[in-house]
Amino acid sequence: MHSIDEIKRLAGRAAVEKEVKNNQVLGIGSGSTIVYAIQKLAERVKEEKLNIVCIPTSFQGRQLILHNGLPLSGLGTHPELDLAIDGADEVDANLNLIKGSGGCMTQEKIVACNAKRFIIVADYSKDSKNLGDSWQKGIPIEVIPMAYVPVRRSLSQMFGGVVELRMAYRKTGPVVTDNGNYVLDWKFDQVREWKEVNTAIKMIPGVVETGLFINMAERVYFGREDGSVTVRKRPSK
Ligand code: A5P
Repeated sequence: MHSIDEIKRLAGRAAVEKEVKNNQVLGIGSGSTIVYAIQKLAERVKEEKLNIVCIPTSFQGRQLILHNGLPLSGLGTHPELDLAIDGADEVDANLNLIKGSGGCMTQEKIVACNAKRFIIVADYSKDSKNLGDSWQKGIPIEVIPMAYVPVRRSLSQMFGGVVELRMAYRKTGPVVTDNGNYVLDWKFDQVREWKEVNTAIKMIPGVVETGLFINMAERVYFGREDGSVTVRKRPSK
């Protein structure tokens, strides 16, 4: 019997073991699973004297890079990445993702889009046939604060469902992202053509980014309940 943390650890470590090479610029995602990937990365850098540079996707990622003694950089000096590794809230059969339960999806998407390869590390609970099968907290959407009410109205009118402003814990008021914005969580009521939905949401004035990552992930390292790690590649079209 493996704890969920142990399973996340196995997935994170396996991805870094298999995917990271010397002389790479790496995108470092956010969340709880990536913590274990960074620990493994720090071990490999020390043992193998790897020459790598790390680009964070959040305040958390930046702290993890620094605390593990890894070289920190940014897109200003390293706009082309070899590989980005990140977690996900849900992965569908085509490797489309919901991300952003930590509110970091905007920087995560920017970093992933500028990487030659985008790899996900996740525990088995994230593995779904369709988005929404297991993830019930909705699709996170980062919005400019003054626009959150009109964006919420537009989303409801266009697609139905329930749209909630994400509220902070141990602070009165809304969650404020690393970019100074708010997060709406859209609890959708049916499976859709997510590529088109994503484009339509991005056209609403005030939307900064969505937590829909469509056709971006190349492969997912899933930690399984029995302690094994399986690798799923994106089906070729
Ligand atoms: C951060 O905003 C998210 O996109 C995370 O990458 C995602 O929620 C995965 O987190 P866990 O590894 O904690 O499940």
